[in-house]
Amino acid sequence: MAAYSPDVRLRRHDRGIPFERWGGEPFFVALVERFYEGVATDPLLRPLYPEDLTESKEHLALFLVQYWGGPDTYQQVRGHPRLRMRHAPFAIGPAEADAWLRHMTAAVDGLGMAAADREELLEYLEMAARSLVNTG
Ligand code: HEM
Repeated sequence: MAAYSPDVRLRRHDRGIPFERWGGEPFFVALVERFYEGVATDPLLRPLYPEDLTESKEHLALFLVQYWGGPDTYQQVRGHPRLRMRHAPFAIGPAEADAWLRHMTAAVDGLGMAAADREELLEYLEMAARSLVNTG
């Protein structure tokens, strides 16, 4: 069985391109902003991230924009995502993935998405987070 890759760009655009449907870049910027508010106070996750979260926010927002069908600025600025490789320096066990997903779910839930859209977004994030577990 081929391993799930969080990098593969979504091709299932049966209800229109999610990037456009969800409100373009401002949606993803708001999502990431809320997510990092949670990370900033998380005793397990905070130590993994740099002191200044500005670039971390920018990279995650650009990645999600690209993944969900928006401009490919992420790739231009950062190159191929290679998320497994980029996360290799950090010890990510099930507890870290749970914490990451908890903050993402809270962030998503603050944005008032339609139920089917929320489901689609969270399903991806859940699979991606589990695929990045590299220890424990
Ligand atoms: C499973 C729990 C996860 C943990 C603990 C985690 C942690 C981290 C850390 C510590 C960084 C480095 C921050 C920096 O260099 O500024 C990072 C970068 C990043 N993470 Fe995660 N991450 C997780 C899951 C995910 C998931 C599920 C995605 C995608 C859906 C993701 C996307 C990214 C991106 C795009 C970057 C920036 C890569 C770059 O340098 O261009 N992460 N993550």
